[in-house]
Amino acid sequence: MNRSRDIQHGPYDRGATRLTTVRRRSVRLIVGVLAAICVFPLAAQGQETAEYFKLHCYSCHTIGGGRLVGPDLKDVTARKDRDWLVRFILNPQAMIDRGDPYAKQILEEARGVVMPPVAGLSRDRANQILDMIEAESALEKSQFEGVKFSDRPFTPADVELGHALFTGRTKFKNAGPPCMSCHTVRGLSLLGGGRLGVDLTKVSERIGGRKPLSAWLVSPATVTMQPVFKKHPLEAEEILPLVAYFEHAAKQAGDDDSVAPLTFFLLGLAGMVLMLGLFDVLWKNRFRGVRRPLVAGGEMRTSV
Ligand code: HEC
Ligand code: HEC
Repeated sequence: MNRSRDIQHGPYDRGATRLTTVRRRSVRLIVGVLAAICVFPLAAQGQETAEYFKLHCYSCHTIGGGRLVGPDLKDVTARKDRDWLVRFILNPQAMIDRGDPYAKQILEEARGVVMPPVAGLSRDRANQILDMIEAESALEKSQFEGVKFSDRPFTPADVELGHALFTGRTKFKNAGPPCMSCHTVRGLSLLGGGRLGVDLTKVSERIGGRKPLSAWLVSPATVTMQPVFKKHPLEAEEILPLVAYFEHAAKQAGDDDSVAPLTFFLLGLAGMVLMLGLFDVLWKNRFRGVRRPLVAGGEMRTSV
């Protein structure tokens, strides 16, 4: 009798012990997480804002290092009131559409390049960023003064290496996909390039020259490229030859200005989702050449 009870109770007891252990562990976990949520953020928030700025804003803006694609943000909080700036950061296009004269002026100064909507922004985050810009502006030298690039003259060897990197003949150190899987440049080769991204023949001129383009390529701020190149960033010694190649291609193309305008910033959500999906396919096929992604790109285009 006793034995059979033991048999019945044994496993049940063990089960109960296991259950309490699990519960105790999850309680400890929850307490740990709560503590982290309460204690760290104040210290970590500044760091997090700086990281966010570096990833999402720094490719177009310095603080005290001069204009890139967008204006130098040093003392921007003295140029415009806080409410305006927050609204602009959250939706630049809306401010321009509303006919706001200051928005129009900075758009002209940016030679018509509209600041794209930035991922992961909220009113709070915009305020945190502006606080940080204010603090950084007061410093003698901001940590966001700009990435330093070599400005030595380009050589034919740079152009050649840039071409090889663009087409994928030379692999990127951090394993990023070759630009040609999504982009074309006039005079590239018989194959042409991908049609997903824009024609980059005159990109240097469009983005504002060597320095802004180099900075832009450190963390490409577009919905399609950012998720890819965040994980596989380009190195400075790869950016230089790429820019050399673009400037060379622009010179070769001369004044023929049939390049598509900057409409890419306005690409809709549908296009973006399609492209992200397609990227999977491109990635898988990238060692098999560019013909297939090129065709796929063409088809998707007509169906959009
Ligand atoms: C792809 C480039 C790009 C990125 C990325 C970008 N901006 Fe801009 N930004 C611009 C351009 C260009 C302008 C000039 C206005 C216009 O043409 O839309 C601008 C204007 C501004 C202005 C107004 C400047 C002034 O002089 O009054 C602020 C503030 C600003 N950006 C903040 C940000 C913040 C914060 C981020 C990151 C969350 C960011 N920008 C990301 C391109 C960019
Ligand atoms: C996965 C596809 C993809 C790859 C790979 C890719 N791009 Fe892009 N790129 C795009 C798309 C799409 C755009 C247009 C903006 C958008 O919607 O994201 C773009 C925009 C750009 C722009 C801005 C164009 C302009 O006119 O202002 C530059 C510069 C650029 N890419 C350079 C490069 C370089 C250099 C490489 C290779 C290191 C590369 N891209 C690789 C998809 C790609």
